[in-house]
Amino acid sequence: MSNRTFTMIKPDATSKGYTGAILDQIIKAGFSIKALKWTKLTTVQAGLFYDVHRERGFFGELVEFMSSGPIVAAILEKENAVEDFRTLIGATNPANAAEGTIRKKFAASIGENAVHGSDSDENATIEGDFFFSKLERF
Ligand code: CMP
Repeated sequence: MSNRTFTMIKPDATSKGYTGAILDQIIKAGFSIKALKWTKLTTVQAGLFYDVHRERGFFGELVEFMSSGPIVAAILEKENAVEDFRTLIGATNPANAAEGTIRKKFAASIGENAVHGSDSDENATIEGDFFFSKLERF
């Protein structure tokens, strides 16, 4: 069990002005921010980040969407971070997300689902390293 996870606030949420409210909910849930970046992915960068999904039917749509506008990337710390963060954000499809979760409140569809959360300790490390150098985290 690791105490860190990685998240992105996705282009649907940044464009609708939800960034502050989502960060507020994350912090109030007990996560502390160890790295934070407002940036925009190219299609190549989005494809590399989601490489594991390259063969899936939705890959093109996912890459197009994730490079369509700014995102906020962050490394978060809390005990049991990966699992607790996935509980906080809710199911991938907001239609199935529990009441009060970030995706239930801020997401519109399975493709445009407001936030990403790492699915394992190993991927949390890989994804954090994708965005942040040692100088940009503590
Ligand atoms: P995320 O947690 O960022 O990880 C992979 C993403 O792929 C997922 O959130 C969804 O946004 C997206 N995704 C998963 N399934 C589908 C689908 N059926 N159609 C479109 N996008 C999807």
